[in-house]
Amino acid sequence: MTSTWAVTRPVPWSGAETLPELPRADTRWDDLERLRSSHPMVDAVIDAVNGRRIRIGDHWLSDFASCNYLGFDLHPEIMASVEPAVRRWGTHPSWSRLLGNPRPYVEIEERLTELLGAPDSLVLPTITLIHTSVIPVLVGQGAVLVDAQAHKTIYEGAAIAKGAGATLHRVRANDPEHLEDILRSLPPNVSKVFCIDGVNSMTGNAPDLPVYARICREYDALLYVDDAHGFGIIGESPTERMPYGRRGNSIVRFYDESYDNVVLVAGFSKSYSSLAAFLALPTSLKNYLKVAAPPYLYSGPSPTASLATILAGFDVNDAEGDIIRWSLCQKTHRVLSQIKKLGLRTLNTSGYPVIELPLGHADDIDAVGKFLFDRGIYVTLAPYPLVPRAQVGFRVQVTAANDDSQIEQLNDVLAELSERFEMQRAEQPG
Ligand SMILES: Cc1ncc(COP(=O)(O)O)c(C=O)c1O
Repeated sequence: MTSTWAVTRPVPWSGAETLPELPRADTRWDDLERLRSSHPMVDAVIDAVNGRRIRIGDHWLSDFASCNYLGFDLHPEIMASVEPAVRRWGTHPSWSRLLGNPRPYVEIEERLTELLGAPDSLVLPTITLIHTSVIPVLVGQGAVLVDAQAHKTIYEGAAIAKGAGATLHRVRANDPEHLEDILRSLPPNVSKVFCIDGVNSMTGNAPDLPVYARICREYDALLYVDDAHGFGIIGESPTERMPYGRRGNSIVRFYDESYDNVVLVAGFSKSYSSLAAFLALPTSLKNYLKVAAPPYLYSGPSPTASLATILAGFDVNDAEGDIIRWSLCQKTHRVLSQIKKLGLRTLNTSGYPVIELPLGHADDIDAVGKFLFDRGIYVTLAPYPLVPRAQVGFRVQVTAANDDSQIEQLNDVLAELSERFEMQRAEQPG
């Protein structure tokens, strides 16, 4: 029987045309694989970029799928920072950081620590690398507790910790009492780490961090938060007028929480449009991770261009970040208002720029995606198993670089879409 998993790419080392069929582990990935191989909006090759417009073949689309929330990828000052840095440092600092630690890293960590108001910070290449290397070190032979809606890469880290002898516990989403029940049932003398997303990559909402932090402190557990989507967007001193807060210094400052028993993880690859990630943590833990977690010693570093754009990004954030966030907040508000007016359901209750719209029928995903593509709107499709079947739909990400005409275009297309397709409805249409 021919499996859809048969790999037909050439195998240069053997001269054979195909690899033997791979065993088919399960059928969960079939929907995604079908979309990948057939849909214009999945695994697409982007041929050109013009502002927040992208070209696929000869088709120009408004891009609502990038994570460049602040538009730093297109900011002239940030773009101009690359060439002088490359002239000074070469294209790539190819030491692992333990062997040679270029000065820009030190500057980034100093500025980041100040921005976050954290005890210290440690920059490593990606969040995925951080989760898979640091979670097992933090947990040891103890217990790793993972929020049910946590990002897949957290689960990867937790699975590695489990393989190394830890116990793995799934905590129901938005249910701090369930966390407390599990923590209470664990022996007092084992290490406990609870992992959760900050601003969630699918719902666009943030957890009630103060409640989770209080419970973790009470049971001497570490709260490990991945705020990939919140860093750069939310920050200290939120008000009714500016609900995102100021400075974009992430979820701990947003809630005016302390870093006691909290490790914050986030990255520069979304709001700061640069390849690097970081932990905010005590200096003693930073020094321990430098030797005990693999990436500081064994992984290649981030490229010079990214180190330069992070530093330039800090300058732009200081000078105009709050104005950019204000504009982002307004644009997001316009989209959410239209969704409310149309009576559509979205998981987003926060007003942050990650907006998932679930379909009435999961099987419509191909047709809905093609409809959006044909109307010039590029989004992230969310098929099963990336989301539960009841949440199959698509995700819109608004960025500060989407212009007003694109927001209008998106709103018009959403109106047309809601007439053509059955979408999930809000309980109380606006
Ligand atoms: C919540 C969350 N964590 C981690 C990652 C992975 O980040 P990185 O690309 O830095 O590995 C993503 C990427 O989309 C994410 O959304």
